Amino acid sequence: MTILIIGAGLVGSQVARMLVEQGEKPVLLDSAAQPKAIGEIVDLNKVALIEGNVLQPLSIVKAVNEHAITAIVHTAANPLLTLGAQRDPYAAVNLNIMGTMNVLETARSTGVKRVVVSSSNVLNHFLGGGEGNGDLMNEEALPRPTTFYSATKQAVESLGLNYARWCGVDFAGMRYGAVFGPWSGAGGGGPSNVVREAMRRALNGEEASVPAGAMEWVYSKDAAHGTVLALRAKDLGTRVFNITMASLTTPQDMASAIQSVVPGSRVKIETPAATAVSLPNMTGVSDQTTARKTLGYSPQFDFVAGLRDLADWMKAH
Ligand SMILES: NC(=O)c1ccc[n+]([C@@H]2O[C@H](COP(=O)([O-])OP(=O)(O)OC[C@H]3O[C@@H](n4cnc5c(N)ncnc54)[C@H](O)[C@@H]3O)[C@@H](O)[C@H]2O)c1
Repeated sequence: MTILIIGAGLVGSQVARMLVEQGEKPVLLDSAAQPKAIGEIVDLNKVALIEGNVLQPLSIVKAVNEHAITAIVHTAANPLLTLGAQRDPYAAVNLNIMGTMNVLETARSTGVKRVVVSSSNVLNHFLGGGEGNGDLMNEEALPRPTTFYSATKQAVESLGLNYARWCGVDFAGMRYGAVFGPWSGAGGGGPSNVVREAMRRALNGEEASVPAGAMEWVYSKDAAHGTVLALRAKDLGTRVFNITMASLTTPQDMASAIQSVVPGSRVKIETPAATAVSLPNMTGVSDQTTARKTLGYSPQFDFVAGLRDLADWMKAH
């Protein structure tokens, strides 16, 4: 069993580390891999790191054939996620939707059984409409994504579910919360960079900033854990899973978490203007029932535990 991980960033590198710890040698495919950053997460001697582009279907097919791939984890993304998609919708639609199509089509044509794709809990938060209350005859029956990024993730889930229904591709969509965790490279989305920068400043004795809205987070190691559980599950059931901390973290929670990990640190509450669209005020907590029942997932890290783990990692690197 060899797993292909497409996208070797914040989440993909943690999935690789976890698979290596379970005795596997995964293949990481990336169009612009950052070997130094990846090597800080997983031993590069224990993975195969290859160049490839999810927008070029043959490069996925080549990787599948050359490495006898049996399952794919697809995490490739544009660097700033919500923010990047608002700035360049065309590129985000192309990468997120066509990239996922290429992965699903590769799986269908080569016989790769299972495909686990990163979705996002933006689908639990960046939605409007639905006033038709489930009456499918009403134009407003279905909730509508309110950002380009969430529109792409809705399409990604719908495409995956149809490949499962019609083409025998065993699809799973992972709705991660806003992810933060160890990573020194570029990318990783706006939220993870905000947390990392806050911790960097706190550890350096400088004033740290936390965003003004409440957020639903997941630590990157838990995101990877949920993903690996989806790779292993015998039966994926309804196929879409909320993988979050199952809690809302308010700005005050975040500030006191930083102060408990770095005693005496100064924290102000302020959303950097450029990232406001990706750091909303979330109001609800995603339901974890399906992830718990079908995958056996429960978060191992709350915000303080994640921050402590991140601080230890940052000090060591
Ligand atoms: N980071 C978050 O807060 C967050 C939250 C929810 C969901 N997600 C989703 O999780 C997934 C992983 O996010 P991440 O934070 O690890 O992203 P990341 O930016 O850290 O990593 C993405 C990787 O994909 C690679 N990539 C980009 N275009 C590519 C292409 N055409 N072909 C091959 N590789 C390509 C990049 O080089 C990068 O290494 C994404 O689908 C993202 O939408 C992320």
